[in-house]
Amino acid sequence: MNAQTLTFPEHRDARGALVAINGNKDIPFDIRRVYFVYDNIGGLRRGFHAHKTLEQVLVCTSGSCDILLDDGSKIDSIRLNQPGLGLYIGTMIWHEMYNFSPDCVLLSLASQPYDEADYIRDYREFERAVNRA
Ligand code: TYD
Repeated sequence: MNAQTLTFPEHRDARGALVAINGNKDIPFDIRRVYFVYDNIGGLRRGFHAHKTLEQVLVCTSGSCDILLDDGSKIDSIRLNQPGLGLYIGTMIWHEMYNFSPDCVLLSLASQPYDEADYIRDYREFERAVNRA
């Protein structure tokens, strides 16, 4: 599976806590885009796509959610529930986000600018693409 969890050191002191994520050091690519989702409607899912070339790391900076990962032959589910826990998702991994807590802020650090052409949003097309590889 071209995906794995990553842990980032938490710098906690009397004032609170801080997590730093350095591109090409704490995660295996340069960060070229950051986006985050929030105000998620409970019970709904997002995602439902794979990327041809994009890599990303997801972090729940607040709250929690679950991420389904599917490489075409194996399905995993990862729970993100602490700011120091990241999930690297490489290319050609179908992913879905669900079980959002009301306070969830899901941050994505991405290796590329937004490009709709990099998305595979049709599951059958995804299956065809991974089974050919
Ligand atoms: P969408 O791809 O549907 O989100 P998800 O895959 O998490 O379910 O994106 C929602 C909207 O936001 C859609 O109109 C495209 C837009 N968008 C951007 O403009 N830039 C971005 O970097 C992303 C990820 C989405």
